Amino acid sequence: MKTQVGIIGSGPSGLLLSQLLDLQGIESVILERQSREHVMGRIRAGVIEQGTADLLRTAQVHARMDREGQPHDGVNIAFNGERYRIDFKGLTGSAVMVYGQTEITRDLFEARDALGGTIIDEAEDVRPHGIDTDSPYLTYRKHGEAHRIDCDFIAGCDGFHGVSRQSIPADVLHTYEKVYPFGWLGVLSQTPPVADELIYAHHARGFALCSMRSATLSRYYVQCPVDEDLADWPDDRFWDELRRRLPDDAAEALVTGPSIEKSIAPLRSFVAEPMRFGRLFLAGDAAHIVPPTGAKGLNLAASDIYYLSRALTAFYKDGQQALLDAYSETCLRRVWKAERFSWWMTTLLHQFPENGAFGARVQLAELDYLVNSKAAMTALAENYIGLPY
Ligand code: FAD
Ligand code: PHB
Repeated sequence: MKTQVGIIGSGPSGLLLSQLLDLQGIESVILERQSREHVMGRIRAGVIEQGTADLLRTAQVHARMDREGQPHDGVNIAFNGERYRIDFKGLTGSAVMVYGQTEITRDLFEARDALGGTIIDEAEDVRPHGIDTDSPYLTYRKHGEAHRIDCDFIAGCDGFHGVSRQSIPADVLHTYEKVYPFGWLGVLSQTPPVADELIYAHHARGFALCSMRSATLSRYYVQCPVDEDLADWPDDRFWDELRRRLPDDAAEALVTGPSIEKSIAPLRSFVAEPMRFGRLFLAGDAAHIVPPTGAKGLNLAASDIYYLSRALTAFYKDGQQALLDAYSETCLRRVWKAERFSWWMTTLLHQFPENGAFGARVQLAELDYLVNSKAAMTALAENYIGLPY
C-alpha cells in the first residue's frame, strides 16, 4: 500500500491529523494497535480549550460538540474549608468547554468513516522504517499476515507507550521527566455534578477534583498512593473519602451512586526533544505527558496537530519545507509552558509530605495569595483557558 502520510495511533492526535489532512486533499492511513471499541472506551480528558474547540470546528467535527458541550466560564479552588471562584471570562474574556475525549474520539471516527478514511485497527507489531531517508515506510502484521505501507512522512501519534519515540536514535533524543509520588483514583458515575463548575480541592488528606461530562454524568478524582489496589476502593470508600476532602457545602450537596468506571492514573511530567527526526514527526502524548491537574494533555495534542497539519499542507500545496523544519521548535515552546503550568497546578494542590511542615505552610500561603490577587488569578486563568497558538 502507498499513502502520503502514515499515521501511527488512532487517539485524538492521529484521528484529528488524518481528518485535517483529508480536508486539504492529503491522503493518510492510520495504524492502530487496539480495537476501535477499546479506543472509544477509554475515559480520559474532559476540558477543552477554545483553541481546541476551534480546531475541531476547522476539522468539521463540531456539530455535536456545539450542541452538547458545556461552556465553563470559571473554576473553583477550595482550601481551608472555603471555595473561591476564578472567573476566566471576567479575567481573560475567554472560557473553556466541558466535552469528553470519548465524545471527541467518537465524532472523529464518524467523520473519518464518512469521508472514507482508512483506519487499520488491531495492527500488530507496527514499525516505522527509513525515517532518516526520503522514502520511509511502515510495517505491521494483521491476522498473521505481514504488510508494508510506503509513505512520504510518518506521524507518531501513538501515545506515551508507543513505538515512534523509541525509533529516534538514543544519541539524538533527549528526555526530561518528573514522576510524582502519587496517582489519581477516578470515578465516573451517572449522578448530577456536585456544582455547575469544576472544583479543584486542596486538603490535608490529599487533592480532590469534582468534574463532569454532562448534567447527569459526573467525574471525580482523589489523590491516592500510586500503587493503590482498586479492589481496596469500593464505591462507598471512594465517596466517603471525596466528601471528607470537600468544603462542607459541596460535601452536603454531593449526590453519590454506583460507579460506571473506576481507574488509577499515575502522574508524570515528560518531554522528548526533538519532536521530529528526519521524516518522523511526534505529536501528542508520544512526545510529552503532563499531570492532568491543568487539563492540558488533550489540548497540547491538538496544538501539535495544528502545527503539523499546517506544515504538511504547506509542503504539499506550495512545496514549502520551512514549517516542517520549524515544527519541533514551534511545538516545544508551547509544550514547555503547558508543562510548567501543569507542574505548578499539581504542586499547588496536592499533598507532598516530603516537603515537611514548612512546605505545607508555604503552599497554603500561595493558595491564599492566589485567590486574593487579581494578577495571580489572571495568570492561572490565562494558562487554563490555553495560551495562543
Ligand atoms: P493517546 O490518546 O494515548 O492515543 C494513542 C493511540 O496510539 C492509542 O489508541 C494507542 O492504542 C495507539 N498505539 C500505541 N502504541 C501503538 C503501536 N505501537 N502501534 C499502533 N498503535 C499504537 N487532557 C486534557 O487536555 N484535559 C483533561 O481534562 C485531561 N484529563 C485526563 C485525565 C486522565 C485520567 C488521563 C489519563 C489523561 C487526561 N488527559 C487530559 C490527557 C489526554 O487524555 C491525553 O493527552 C490524550 O489522550 C493524548 O492523545 P494522543 O492521541 O496523543 O494519545
Ligand atoms: C476530567 O473531567 O476528567 C478532568 C477535568 C479537569 C482536569 C482533569 C480531568 O484537570
